[in-house]
This record gives sequence, structure tokens and C-alpha cells, in this order.
Amino acid sequence: MLDTAICDLFEIRHPILQGGMAHISTAELVSAVSNSGGLGIIGAGFYEPEWVREQIRLTRSLTDKPFGVNIHLASPYVRQITQLVFDEKVSIVTTGAGNLESEIPRFNKAGIKLIPVINSVDAARRLENAGADAIIAEGMEAGGHVGETTTMSLVPQVADCVKIPVIAAGGICDGRGLAAALALGAQGIQMGTRFVCSEECIASIKYKQKILEANDHSTIVTRQILGMPQRSLRNNLTDTFQALEKAGATKEELALFDKSRMYLGLIEGNIDDGALLAGQIAGMIKEIKPARKIISDIVEEAEIIINSLNKFLKE
Ligand SMILES: Cc1cc2nc3c(=O)[nH]c(=O)nc-3n(C[C@H](O)[C@H](O)[C@H](O)COP(=O)(O)O)c2cc1C
Repeated sequence: MLDTAICDLFEIRHPILQGGMAHISTAELVSAVSNSGGLGIIGAGFYEPEWVREQIRLTRSLTDKPFGVNIHLASPYVRQITQLVFDEKVSIVTTGAGNLESEIPRFNKAGIKLIPVINSVDAARRLENAGADAIIAEGMEAGGHVGETTTMSLVPQVADCVKIPVIAAGGICDGRGLAAALALGAQGIQMGTRFVCSEECIASIKYKQKILEANDHSTIVTRQILGMPQRSLRNNLTDTFQALEKAGATKEELALFDKSRMYLGLIEGNIDDGALLAGQIAGMIKEIKPARKIISDIVEEAEIIINSLNKFLKE
């Protein structure tokens, strides 16, 4: 059975994290993943602290297994949500879209495991020095906010420069991806797009369907001008955003145009004008499955692959 340092660190059975996803990684999905031996993570997104508290309590009513909370560092409620995870005694916190470096000692002191999502070697090094317990190295293939380096290039470079466990994210949806991540020096994987297409994810079926129909070039990165490049499925929204950009729209006009598009796409299922965050791996996802099956299929496939790789070694 696959067993890595992050299984011990998080007290989970399989080295698989479900990435925090604003709006859609709610208690339903999080508890299903944790009950299946992975680590489910609530996406606090831009929600108010009370919503996050309810999600934490609901998750606790659905699982007695470890789970985490993802703090979106661009949220206007970062300070309150940070306090909330202390008050609610959440044991694992991941952070995305920013830097919580100066706060890490506080997490360390409270025994909360703090795992930042990063997209550069420099950030990994800095956050290890600041006291992070592990690092999620996320490549630019990923859905959501992205950097510029691919998972294939980023993970081994990060693994070589830190001593804490590294978790690979971006472009993974099957056992081949898990085996490859381990070969690159990671101790586990985080997936977002694959878990959108789980039965338990509350995302709109129309958005899930668009992922199932995607191919290898269905996604695009936009919003660079807003300082938060984001990968999503190409649609009328991304086309119009680019056209406005070309026509010289100001940053403020673009920010206004972009407002509330995630809820529109992910929850309301407006596939033309909503933001449909998804990674490049969308092209390989062809079925909506229960979270338990997603995890068991990946683990079984990775074990077979790892066992069979020595077929390439000749006497
Ligand atoms: C719909 C969606 C929403 C996301 N929201 C967040 C978020 O709020 N915070 C965060 O740190 N990462 C977020 N991510 C990134 C995921 O947690 C994860 O790292 C990423 O999806 C991994 O790449 P993959 O999509 O190729 O699996 C989001 C991804 C998706 C697809």
C-alpha cells in the first residue's frame, strides 16, 4: 500500500488532498474525501466567517477523520477566518493566492499544520524557513489562480530545496499522475478539477458537463492584468474579457466586469458568462464518480504502475 510522509503528517490513509475550492469544496465533498482516506479541504473563498464556521461544524458532523480549511488570502475576511480556524481548533490549514508568512509561528504554536500553496522555489524556501509544515507546489496547468511554471518543472526543483514534505498539484487526475508526482520527489498530490467532477461536489451539473466535454486545449489563462492570473474553461466570458483588454479597458473596468463571475459559473451553471475554473487535465476527465471511487481508482492504478516500472530496467 502507498504510504508516504504526508500520510503520517495528516493522519490519512492515502496521499491525496482535495484542493480547497472557493464556492464548491463544501462539507459534502470534504467529508466524502476524508471518509475515503484522503484529506478533504473546505474552500473558505470569499465567504463570510460565519459561513466558514458552519461548514467546519457540518463537516465535523459528517466525518470523524482529519480535514482542512483553505484560506484564500485575497479574501477581505482573512483576519477573521484566521482567528476562526484557531477558535474552531481546525488541525490543518492550506493557504492560496498570497502569503501568510508572518502568521506561521502562531499556527505552529497552536499545533495547526500550515501548508501554503506556492508556485516558485523562492516562495517554498521562504515558507519553510518561516515554519510551514509542508508545501503544495502547484504548476500552471492547474485550475484557478496560477503561476508560470509547470508541475513537471516545479515539483522536483521545490523538492530539492526544502526538507519538509512536498505535495504536487496541477494536472493530475489519475494513477499515472500520482506515480509521476512521487517520482518527481513529492510525497503526495492535491487535485481540484478531478474532484469537481465528483458526485458529492455541489457545483452545477452544467459546469461539470463542460469539464467532461473538454479537450487538451479547452482552458485559458486570463486576468493577468488584475494581478491574479486564472485558468478556466474558454467561453464567452474569457473571450469578452480578452476583447475588453485589447480595446484598452482599465483595470478597474475589468475588475468590475469580472465581479461575481465564479458564483455565476460554478454554482448557477451559466456556462457562457460565468467563470468555469478548471485545469488542463479537464481533457482527461470523462466521468462523474463518487469521491471514494476517484480515490481508490487512483491509488490502485498508481500502485500497479509503480510495481511495473522496473520492466524498463534491463539486466
Ligand atoms: C473551481 C476551482 C476553485 C479553486 N479555488 C481555490 C481556492 O479558493 N483556493 C486555493 O488555494 N486554490 C483553489 N483552487 C486550486 C485547487 O485547490 C488545486 O490546487 C488545483 O485545482 C489543482 O490543479 P488541478 O485543477 O489541475 O487538479 C481552485 C481550483 C478550482 C478548479
